[in-house]
Amino acid sequence: MKVHIIGGGNLGVSIALGLSKFSMDNQITITRRNTSSILYLEKLGATVSTNNTHLIQEADIIILTIKPYQVDTVLSEILPAISNKIIASAVSGLSIDILQNKIGGSNIAVRIMPNIAAQFGASATCIAFQEQNKDKAQSVVSLFQSLGTAPIIDEKLMDAATVLAASGTAFALRYIRASMQAGIEIGFDWQTALAISAQTVKGAAEMLLEEKVHPEQLIDRVTTPQGCTIAGLNEMEMHGFSSSLIRGIKTSLKQIKG
Ligand SMILES: NC(=O)c1ccc[n+]([C@@H]2O[C@H](COP(=O)([O-])OP(=O)(O)OC[C@H]3O[C@@H](n4cnc5c(N)ncnc54)[C@H](OP(=O)(O)O)[C@@H]3O)[C@@H](O)[C@H]2O)c1
Repeated sequence: MKVHIIGGGNLGVSIALGLSKFSMDNQITITRRNTSSILYLEKLGATVSTNNTHLIQEADIIILTIKPYQVDTVLSEILPAISNKIIASAVSGLSIDILQNKIGGSNIAVRIMPNIAAQFGASATCIAFQEQNKDKAQSVVSLFQSLGTAPIIDEKLMDAATVLAASGTAFALRYIRASMQAGIEIGFDWQTALAISAQTVKGAAEMLLEEKVHPEQLIDRVTTPQGCTIAGLNEMEMHGFSSSLIRGIKTSLKQIKG
């Protein structure tokens, strides 16, 4: 698969790194205007360029990881150089209909919402496309399945996906930070507290993904009657642990929807 990533910032680089590590067969081109900070990607086999149309005609999939206000400029550069291409856009708020109108009928718009864990093959990338493009969009699904999980969702849930999967990375990291801070208070140095907190979250997530059960079933396995875990959980809940997370996620969604 030849992949052309336009916008070599946080997300674009994560995807390029993930593709170069986890799917060695891909040929990757990545662009941005100032390439000095991403030239190291060339050592991993990617082509780095300031020219958005460099090698674009060879691409199977063009991935847009630019900010919304950069879309029209980029499209005006690349559209004269392409036809029959799949354009997978991670640009938040840009609907499939609007993108499809901008790129014309000869190209196909697919909407993706990855997160920066793509770098480690661990993204949760929600994907949406128009029904008539189902077959061609499959290549985008396969590509992102190689970088983690890639559920196909209804486009109307794309804002919710942005909050749960992209902002969700920050929410999960904040949990780990809080756990680590508590770990320091109860006796660990920060590196050990971080290692324990991060691995514990990873372990809990792996159990859930592997066993496909409701979290409460696993919580029950570590919650002895009259024990320390239930005492801690109840104290957290009394201070709004779950409800503050739910309120935060709903506030992020409100913010996205304007
Ligand atoms: N970060 C995330 O976790 C995440 C997750 C899901 C979706 N998204 C979405 O993905 C998009 C990118 O987010 P980001 O966090 O990666 O932003 P970012 O770090 O600012 O990356 C955007 C990149 O686009 C490049 N760029 C700007 N104009 C360009 C042009 N004309 N041609 C080529 N490259 C150009 C910029 O580099 P130069 O200035 O050097 O050109 C910059 O490196 C946004 O729409 C965001 O909402 C982000």
